[in-house]
Amino acid sequence: MVNPLKLATSLRLADVSLDARQSAPLYRQLYEALRRAILAGRLKPGARLPSTRELAEDLRVSRNTVMNAYEQLLAEGYVEGQTGSGTFVSRLLPEELLHARTSPARSVRAVSKGRALSNRGRLLAATPVNVTRLSGPARPFRPGSPAIDAFPFELWSRLVARHWRRPRRDLLNYGDAAGYLPLREAIAAYLGAARAVRCEPEQVIVVAGAQQALDLAARLLTDAGDPVWVEEPGYLGAKGALAAAGARLVPVPLDEEGLSVEAGARLAPAARLIYASPSHQYPSGVTMSLSRRLALLEWAGRAGAWVIEDDYDSEYRYAGRPLAALQGLDRERRVVYLGTFSKVLFPALRIGYVVVPPDLFDAFCAARALSDRHSPTVEQAVLADFIAEGHFARHIRRMRALYAERQAALVAAGREELGGLLELKPADAGLHLTGLLPEGWSDLEAARAAESRGVDAQPLSAFHLRPPARGGLVLGYAAYDEREISDGVRRLADALRSLRRTLGGRARSA
Ligand SMILES: Cc1ncc(COP(=O)(O)O)c(C=O)c1O
Repeated sequence: MVNPLKLATSLRLADVSLDARQSAPLYRQLYEALRRAILAGRLKPGARLPSTRELAEDLRVSRNTVMNAYEQLLAEGYVEGQTGSGTFVSRLLPEELLHARTSPARSVRAVSKGRALSNRGRLLAATPVNVTRLSGPARPFRPGSPAIDAFPFELWSRLVARHWRRPRRDLLNYGDAAGYLPLREAIAAYLGAARAVRCEPEQVIVVAGAQQALDLAARLLTDAGDPVWVEEPGYLGAKGALAAAGARLVPVPLDEEGLSVEAGARLAPAARLIYASPSHQYPSGVTMSLSRRLALLEWAGRAGAWVIEDDYDSEYRYAGRPLAALQGLDRERRVVYLGTFSKVLFPALRIGYVVVPPDLFDAFCAARALSDRHSPTVEQAVLADFIAEGHFARHIRRMRALYAERQAALVAAGREELGGLLELKPADAGLHLTGLLPEGWSDLEAARAAESRGVDAQPLSAFHLRPPARGGLVLGYAAYDEREISDGVRRLADALRSLRRTLGGRARSA
């Protein structure tokens, strides 16, 4: 075991130079120093970090600074915490777990020497979404992918060919930063009818996926150090965008009605912005109740806070009536509503949308134009036709039925194979299920065991900023057919049974 005091000293001397004059907050500088030390192997897997009090005294910073840095490391899986027994460097780092494309050594070198990167750049490079591998063919149960095999490619290619055969000149020149008008009109009409979003096409901006909307909103609406509420657990893409903008993430717990406004008001009464996914919270799956929606809007109005409403998979609701979007209930024009075609069509399309209050429109368009001018116009025109000609609505109906079947297949296979290993319950919506592991199990270990059997199972703790009371696994099902699902569940069950044997052995030898 590494002596905590010695470790603290060596960290201070070798790795950590905190400078209050830098624009990055102190906790962020400390987080980066620790992360670098972990990735470079100077802090070994399993090593115990000094207590927050010891390190705070040693570095002459507040204990909060150290706690915030530890929480960020916990959230990203670099360290594991056990209440009462300390914080340890993870045996399996996120880079390994999430299959970083770049080798840890390379990303460390770029960040650690700080030769080329600005403080802002370092913040950007250190965000968790950076290390998440989403690309390549999906395998069970990587979440986030729709059933690409069920997409009507022939139809799509006919629409593409129609546009390219005699391309309209005006579509080939620079376009409007807000997007192609017929697509914005189609999106506004769809959102009004399907989601009770109240908007004019003049409020809709077509973006390069919801991720770009998150990035723009984070940069336009928060300043460095601003407290923002994020759902606990919550979506890494949103937390990454906000953290990269310099915002201070305040994890706000959920209950059965969704984000706890009461807890948020207590934890960060001066929040500048709230990020929420009320229709189908990611990854827990909770739907925010109507009274909670009203309470959230009321609080945001009083506090003068912005609300980002992430409606990423609202198309897929299998039971019950969908609740109207938060945006449609908002009288104070505080809500920035965003959605995506990644789940309904396919992620590589990189088309999403953001609906902004009218007074934010010009700012969003200016920021968007600076970033990449606009989304490719011909693809937007193809998508506008796809919607206008009724294919979009038909595709959603077909996929809703298919995903309901796939979810049922996952639940049924789980009932047969995963008893006592993973609690999987059916859900009314979405493309993934979140199952809970037995009390006391590490979900990072479970994810690693699954990985060794060729199964992707994302650890629930990776979506938390504080260690969760109970570990779990997030399993996507939409992209996999019934055979792949039952085979995946069998392999996952094997993995979890073998983990149970290991844990039993460990307990006996302790
Ligand atoms: C909660 C949530 N929001 C937003 C997105 C947006 O994705 P994209 O940038 O592909 O539109 C995702 C994708 O997985 C998601 O899970």
